[in-house]
Amino acid sequence: MADFSAPLKAPIYVCLLTYGCQMNILDSQILSGNLTRQGFVVVDDETAADAVLFITCSVRDLAERKVLGKAGKLNVKRNRRPEVVLGVTGCMAELKGESLLGGKNVFDFVAGTHKRHLIPELLLRALCKRAAAAEVTAVNAEALERLGIALSPYMDECAPSSERLFAVGRNESGEGPDELEAMRPRPWQAFVEIMRGCSNFCSYCVVPYARGPEVSRPAEEILKELETLAGSGCVEVTLLGQNVNSYGKDLPKGSLSFPELLEKAAKIEGLKWLRFVTSNPQDISDDLIALMASEKKICRYLHFPLQSGSNRILKMMNRKYTLEQYLEKVAKLKAAMPDLWLAGDLIVGFPGETLEDFQATLAAVEKIDYANNFLFKYSERPGTAAARLKDDVPLEEKKRRHAELMALQGRLTHEHLKSLVGTTQEVLVEGHSKRNRDVLQGRTTHYANVVFEGDPSLIGKFVPVRMESATPLTLYGSCERLTGEEKLTNEKETS
Ligand code: SAH
Ligand code: SF4
Ligand code: F3S
Repeated sequence: MADFSAPLKAPIYVCLLTYGCQMNILDSQILSGNLTRQGFVVVDDETAADAVLFITCSVRDLAERKVLGKAGKLNVKRNRRPEVVLGVTGCMAELKGESLLGGKNVFDFVAGTHKRHLIPELLLRALCKRAAAAEVTAVNAEALERLGIALSPYMDECAPSSERLFAVGRNESGEGPDELEAMRPRPWQAFVEIMRGCSNFCSYCVVPYARGPEVSRPAEEILKELETLAGSGCVEVTLLGQNVNSYGKDLPKGSLSFPELLEKAAKIEGLKWLRFVTSNPQDISDDLIALMASEKKICRYLHFPLQSGSNRILKMMNRKYTLEQYLEKVAKLKAAMPDLWLAGDLIVGFPGETLEDFQATLAAVEKIDYANNFLFKYSERPGTAAARLKDDVPLEEKKRRHAELMALQGRLTHEHLKSLVGTTQEVLVEGHSKRNRDVLQGRTTHYANVVFEGDPSLIGKFVPVRMESATPLTLYGSCERLTGEEKLTNEKETS
């Protein structure tokens, strides 16, 4: 049997197209690292790739449709390069499994969320099949020659095989990808997964089915990864989990709780800012609030999704708190940290949501005074408990409620940004502004978006920025320090 983890004899170009949440962004960074170590070349341009891998999301119907649309377009381009492989992984791959192969589907292989370690093998098997069947033309001759070299150890075994290339379900092997190999586009900033999966089963949500039950990573492993990151110049870490507050509950007795883990993480020298998502209101603890208040490394921004302001709807959503309990937690958070900015998630048009329910959501948003909110129109997901309810709020009405909430949140966000005008804030410089490459963009501890003039050598550094004005989504400021003082750890001496 061929060794599918052996270094490649010639480069194979792979493009990863990533959809969905931070979990997928991190999976994509880890996969890029694993594939690169083996000799694959990860490229941004899908038209230059021998294989395109979709890292998918199923949280709403639109997320799935985007992937299928894009895959369909790439499939048309295979008229000219029939050897190109299209693979699918992530949540949609897990949920739809083998049904994504054959028929009208364009994918050559499917790898579920627990089968990331099998991706190189599936890629190579699919490439062998396609390359063996592809006709040589002026367009693909060069690529086929290169692929011929790279795939030679696998061709005999894989090309003639009629096996369907899919792997979903639990990972019995215990094998996993190496997180430490993740290729991070910004070495000073990292996502670190502290747990996978979710066991909450909110009635509308597909994540527990797509990612499996909650599994916490051992604390030692996480802390070791954080130390390694800090040692290589990382200054900001975002800890990821569907509900970080239940971190450790599945681990043996005596394991660290989330606040204990966070406290240890904050002691790591070099790490300057710590963030985490997502914190479910049902079990945020007083310990966590106290730690956040006393530990300045923990950023003054908390993602704390409410989902609805109506207790009736919250109950139907299987969220395990009432609005009053939520408000109580918010009051505690604000009493401990008056400068904390809150962000949330809200769904409009959940089955049976009346105008009165929606008014309750509007009132809650105003009262809580969120700095930011991610607003979603309810999308029925097959297999979830809510899918048994009638999706009875018409799309037009969902759109109307969504727009009304957007307008309210827009005003609140603008107010938050305006409140910083005239102050000087520490900003972590993330890069050039997307809109104007001549200026820099960064974030404050509140995750406020800041644009200011400065030298690119400041990227990856903390700088004090005086805030001068605020548009609805952005603060504009000025920085007295115009260049970075020392070289970035990731910069080459010659650059
Ligand atoms: N674990 C996180 C949420 C992850 S999903 C938490 O509990 O906060 C991100 C957001 O997508 C959810 O908070 C919810 O607001 C939204 N969402 C999930 N399923 C949805 C659906 N079926 N329709 C619309 N929005 C949905
Ligand atoms: Fe989905 Fe609820 Fe789990 Fe969040 S906590 S991922 S909304 S089931
Ligand atoms: Fe989407 Fe899966 Fe994340 S469904 S939101 S990519 S966990």
